[in-house]
Amino acid sequence: MKMNTDIILAGGGGHALSLMEALAFDHARGADAPVVAGYTAPADAPCMTVPRLGSDDDAATLAAEGYRFHIAFVYAGLPVMDKRRRIISLYEEAGVSFASIVASSAVVTPNSTLGEGCAVLNRAVVNRATLGGHVIVNTGAIVEHDCVVGANTFIGPGAVIGGGVTIGRDCFIGLGARVRNGVTIADGVTVGMGCIVNRNLTEPGIYHGDPLRLHRLRNRN
Ligand SMILES: CC(C)(COP(=O)(O)OP(=O)(O)OC[C@H]1O[C@@H](n2cnc3c(N)ncnc32)[C@H](O)[C@@H]1OP(=O)(O)O)[C@@H](O)C(=O)NCCC(=O)NCCS
Repeated sequence: MKMNTDIILAGGGGHALSLMEALAFDHARGADAPVVAGYTAPADAPCMTVPRLGSDDDAATLAAEGYRFHIAFVYAGLPVMDKRRRIISLYEEAGVSFASIVASSAVVTPNSTLGEGCAVLNRAVVNRATLGGHVIVNTGAIVEHDCVVGANTFIGPGAVIGGGVTIGRDCFIGLGARVRNGVTIADGVTVGMGCIVNRNLTEPGIYHGDPLRLHRLRNRN
């Protein structure tokens, strides 16, 4: 099999563009960053500047050509990470390998661990924390010491996760949210933008407000 250092982004929306921009920034400053060969999506995405190489159904064929993938979408509107989880499973079943994207301006300390396919974007800090596969630590977010973040969880831009926090899988922590040190958040929790989490969240669902409350149970579709 041809070994290919280029990667394919699965997705062609806003998050894919954000990743492309971070990589372009790194290339411009001479950093060693992956090159994006193209993207997969159900249809052409006019905003993308690299070719569409197929759809999710072509994952196995492209993997056989030696490409690695990065899951590069987050559902817009009401965040439902379950859909992203299902697409990740589809790629896993196709036998693909996943590449992480870590911006050169990000800080990932030596005692941190990243699962496969993670994204750590510009100026984000992962400080002695453990991230599961496909976790996104978005621009300027901070994940402090001894945090454990479950697979397929999204930490929004500028969010701050205090030390020793445990966040489950398939969670969405909105931009600028603050999570108190030592808190535990269950699988499948969405925390609204700007919210303060100062207690354990044991039930999946969408939380926002001050004080924080369960707004509604999570949609599963
Ligand atoms: C929490 C969230 C998911 C709720 O979305 P939603 O279910 O579609 O709810 P709506 O936006 O319709 O808001 C419902 C009500 O809650 C309020 N509300 C929503 N999010 C809130 C928040 N974070 N803090 C306080 N109030 C909030 C709205 O003002 C609205 O109040 P109203 O009924 O009095 O008008 C969404 O508001 C949010 O925070 N998304 C995250 C955005 C983000 O971080 N994006 C990252 C982009 S990179």
